[in-house]
Amino acid sequence: MKVVLTLVSFASLVTPFPWVANQPGLKNHHLLARQQSGGGQPGGPETCPFNTNHEGAAPITDTFPYNGAKGGVPGKGVGGYQVPAPGDDAHQFIAPTDEDIRGPCPGLNAAANHGFLSRDGITNYTEVVDAVQNVYNMGYDLANFLAVFSIYIADGDWTTTKLSIGCDATTRTSVSPTLTGSEPGLDGHNKFEADTSLTRDDYFLGDGDNFDFNGTLFGMMANTTNGVFDLDGLALFRFQRYQQSRRDNPQLFFGPLGLFTHGAASFVYELFPSGTEGYAPNLNNTATFFGAEQSPDGTWVHIPERIPDNWTSRATPYTLLDVATQIFEMYSMYPVGIGGSVNGTFVGIDFPPYVQGGNLTAAKPSDLACLLYQFVAGPIPSSLNGFVEPSVQALQAALTAIGGEAFTNLGCPIPVTK
Ligand code: HEM
Ligand SMILES: *[C@@H]1O[C@H](CO)[C@@H](O)[C@H](O)[C@H]1NC(C)=O
Ligand SMILES: *[C@@H]1O[C@H](CO)[C@@H](O)[C@H](O)[C@H]1NC(C)=O
Ligand SMILES: *[C@@H]1O[C@H](CO)[C@@H](O)[C@H](O)[C@H]1NC(C)=O
Ligand SMILES: *[C@@H]1O[C@H](CO)[C@@H](O)[C@H](O)[C@H]1NC(C)=O
Ligand SMILES: *[C@@H]1O[C@H](CO)[C@@H](O)[C@H](O)[C@H]1NC(C)=O
Ligand SMILES: *[C@@H]1O[C@H](CO)[C@@H](O)[C@H](O)[C@H]1NC(C)=O
Ligand SMILES: *[C@@H]1O[C@H](CO)[C@@H](O)[C@H](O)[C@H]1NC(C)=O
Repeated sequence: MKVVLTLVSFASLVTPFPWVANQPGLKNHHLLARQQSGGGQPGGPETCPFNTNHEGAAPITDTFPYNGAKGGVPGKGVGGYQVPAPGDDAHQFIAPTDEDIRGPCPGLNAAANHGFLSRDGITNYTEVVDAVQNVYNMGYDLANFLAVFSIYIADGDWTTTKLSIGCDATTRTSVSPTLTGSEPGLDGHNKFEADTSLTRDDYFLGDGDNFDFNGTLFGMMANTTNGVFDLDGLALFRFQRYQQSRRDNPQLFFGPLGLFTHGAASFVYELFPSGTEGYAPNLNNTATFFGAEQSPDGTWVHIPERIPDNWTSRATPYTLLDVATQIFEMYSMYPVGIGGSVNGTFVGIDFPPYVQGGNLTAAKPSDLACLLYQFVAGPIPSSLNGFVEPSVQALQAALTAIGGEAFTNLGCPIPVTK
């Protein structure tokens, strides 16, 4: 698979999300001009930390097997164990140095602070897919989907499979910076990271800082959810964040990526809670993962993300259909327009058959899973076409990489039939 994709890696970044070209008013406005943090900008290469001593993630062992996930393939899918395991020194918390990269994802930041990902923040496909299974018992189908999307489509390198979990570290992720151009890492805006995040500013409102923890937002989340951080509370807080951005951000874009951000919000009550607390989310646990510390005056400041003491992972794998179900429920509680602000007017998008005129028309969770698949897999065929005439095998390989089998099992139409 990787051999085939390597041939077309450079074309792939040229025409991502081709469906945007058909959106009235949005053409050339949002995704087509997706901000790549450049130069000395926040998240750009000049300010990106550089640890010359890159060490890979600490491997799991026979003594401390966790989910048995290694080599980027499915692990056992059985959670409920303590992480890090008592006595597993290799995965103890170590605060990142100022040479290490961290970014907008608390789940990956915490994993890196425990050595389940490279502690310098330069990771790769295998590390990500293994780590999220071993630490959080994320299902393999969802782990693969997020890893392929972030590395192959959005923010990393097709050839090396490397990814910066934060800022632009192209010199270290790319097979050849002159050929690939810049690879923004997870900080890259409107590639995976999107507006209306829980605790990160919108790209425009934060003057390009869309990745640092914002304690005011964490405090708002804690208040809105009454410290419970459950589906009801987070659905309401997502809605409040959306309204805040509709009001304040003239460059708001809440496209299909906005639904990914609903999915990330579900991780707070599905992946962070501990078996030692009955899998009920609470303030202390959530704050520990987000790296939020309350000052005596009540405000929240950032400290390194970590796995809480005595924490045990969820018992059953959190799958693609699970996250699609949570996104669907969360969205259904507070339906909002899907689209972007253009010159002060909100323009709804069409992403048939799942989004029409800015309204979600997906009628059930599996439709929503298909929407995510279409959105992510959509760029593949045109990218391949733009460079070489792809073989059926090449397309199959690309679709398999993105988790095609998992989605056809959910009844999603195959987007490419060539
Ligand atoms: C599997 C690979 C993963 C990738 C590539 C990834 C990537 C990202 C990215 C790019 C964001 C920013 C989205 C935004 O704009 O808000 C994000 C947010 C988030 N992620 Fe992850 N993530 C992964 C796994 C996880 C896991 C396993 C967890 C939890 C156990 C997690 C928890 C979160 C949370 C809670 C947020 C929202 C943060 C906020 O909005 O303040 N992620 N992730
Ligand atoms: C937005 O405003 C700019 C500047 O007035 C104009 O050039 C552009 O065409 C407008 N865009 C849309 C989609 O109306
Ligand atoms: C990914 O990183 C691991 C170290 O954590 C390394 O063993 C593996 O070879 C890397 N994979 C690739 C494809 O470079
Ligand atoms: C944090 O978020 C609040 C609320 O959105 C905002 O007013 C404030 O400017 C943000 N702070 C920083 C440092 O970005
Ligand atoms: C949260 O609620 C407390 C108590 O009402 C209040 O003092 C604090 O300012 C609120 N925090 C935020 C960020 O809204
Ligand atoms: C929060 O967690 C810390 C460390 O894990 C612990 O010392 C503290 O007692 C906890 N606080 C509450 C209110 O549970
Ligand atoms: C963790 O478990 C140990 C051993 O049972 C106990 O002594 C310690 O107080 C626990 N810590 C927390 C934060 O619950
Ligand atoms: C969604 O549908 C409603 C009618 O149900 C319509 O008023 C609205 O403009 C549509 N689009 C958006 C972006 O909300």
